[in-house]
Amino acid sequence: MSRVYVSSHPLVRHKLSQLREVRTEVPAFRALVRELSRLLFYEALADARTQPRPVQTPLATTQGDYLCEQLALVPILRAGLGMAEAIADLWPTAVIWHLGVYRDHDTLQPVTYYNKLPSALELDRAVVLDPMLATGGSALASIALLKQTGVARISFIGLIAAPEGIQAMQKRHPEVDLFLAAIDSHLNEKGYIVPGLGDAGDRQYGT
Ligand code: PRP
Ligand code: URA
Repeated sequence: MSRVYVSSHPLVRHKLSQLREVRTEVPAFRALVRELSRLLFYEALADARTQPRPVQTPLATTQGDYLCEQLALVPILRAGLGMAEAIADLWPTAVIWHLGVYRDHDTLQPVTYYNKLPSALELDRAVVLDPMLATGGSALASIALLKQTGVARISFIGLIAAPEGIQAMQKRHPEVDLFLAAIDSHLNEKGYIVPGLGDAGDRQYGT
């Protein structure tokens, strides 16, 4: 069964509360998405592989420890884009594979409209990024596509999830670990997460 990790860090709780606020405007919302993404990524990659190598400081030689995981960031467009850019600043060797998926407003079914996943790869882990896991349809479809590339390990980082989305993920992709800032109460009749934050794409891009 996938691990569901919900950050309890005070900084995450504070910034998530600011993100939820209806009065938070586009520039602040975008900055908060970036900051929260980095904080969650930091926790999600706590088990990343490193390699010891000597490092020369101005005073002495000591043992260094360098990251050696090959990582792909997989933002689900649109809303995952801001997350990927923020995380890529932290882990500059990560490759970014874009997946365009939107949720049909009437059926709530995912529609894939852009796919930049490579066909072959040498990679340790792919991290799927989307602020919202609502019905789970978009993330489930994205991960199904990602699995076709043969990537060894997949994690998902999201800001807010509904119980419905988590259940769907655990049923369809039980090996995928989830890293979240919050699990909210439920979905409303239009498939929005309650209390949530509204539409993550619209609030990031001012549409
Ligand atoms: C939002 C969100 C997820 C999806 C979640 O995207 O960013 O991708 O909805 O809902 P689900 O779990 O029920 O699939 P949206 O479809 O609004 O597209 P956008 O990012 O282009 O705004
Ligand atoms: N997508 C969003 O952006 N927000 C929700 O609450 C659900 C899906």
